[in-house]
Amino acid sequence: MKKIRFSLLVLMMFSLVVSMNSKVAWGKSKEGDSNPNRFLSIAHRGASGHAPEHTMSAYQLGKEMHGDYIEIDLQMTKDGILIAMHDEKVDRTTNGSGKVKDMTLADIKKLDAGSWFNAAYPEKAQSQFEGLQVPTLEEVIEAFGKNSRYYIETKAPDVYPGMEKELVRILKKHKLTSQNAQSSKIIVQSFSQESLLKMNKLAAEIPLVQLISYSDPAVISDAELDNIKKYAIGVGMNHKRIDRAYVEQVRNHGLLIHPYTVNKRSDMERLIDWGVTGMFTNYPDVLEAVLKNK
Ligand code: G3P
Ligand code: CA
Repeated sequence: MKKIRFSLLVLMMFSLVVSMNSKVAWGKSKEGDSNPNRFLSIAHRGASGHAPEHTMSAYQLGKEMHGDYIEIDLQMTKDGILIAMHDEKVDRTTNGSGKVKDMTLADIKKLDAGSWFNAAYPEKAQSQFEGLQVPTLEEVIEAFGKNSRYYIETKAPDVYPGMEKELVRILKKHKLTSQNAQSSKIIVQSFSQESLLKMNKLAAEIPLVQLISYSDPAVISDAELDNIKKYAIGVGMNHKRIDRAYVEQVRNHGLLIHPYTVNKRSDMERLIDWGVTGMFTNYPDVLEAVLKNK
């Protein structure tokens, strides 16, 4: 009997060691945000389900709701300033109209980036959203500091030559790049491989995520994943296009997988069960509740 108990104990310890090793083997390191065992909640455009996207209010809520990262889309003004905005035009998220590339920062700062939200979502409207300004990237970094994490997207890099150089300048100025991916407070993402390769050349220490657009169910070859792994730590794509096999394929290549934009509890639960390593959500509070129940 004693012998059987001892054998069982040895077997259990062996299984534990094997399972720990196989988990760590997926990542680049045992530490930091590129470790797939650390699940990342990314506040998409801030907690943009609760406050106007890409405003200080949305970012603040994202932090309060325990998002690990503030997600910021970048556009660049006529006078070369990086601002937080999703669209190339200001029309949808402000009371102005026109393209960011044709406007100076002074023009942009005159706009109201909050009232549209109150009009679109009266049940979530708050008077404090009225008159909110479009923030610059530097203003966000100055407000939230080095103790926050930023998941930054170079949007429309072909429209804004030099945006990568300006981004690296700002990150270095604020000492947000570090010697290795594991301790970085920054992840830079883009649908443009060209933009990510530029980033890699300018500052190889910044971790990168390749966004991939699929109009049909997602399919990717092992060769494509091998190629992405040369410059990026992970991939991101629309969660509606993927299945369990896709997630496993990506993870078997040692890459992180961060689907967007996951707002429903049932979708969050399913994706977590499939093994995604984080996700973009407009509702970090919902994701936190789901993770607590796991
Ligand atoms: O960056 C991930 C996700 O945000 C990509 O889609 O259009 O919301 O920037 P989009
Ligand atoms: Ca984005």
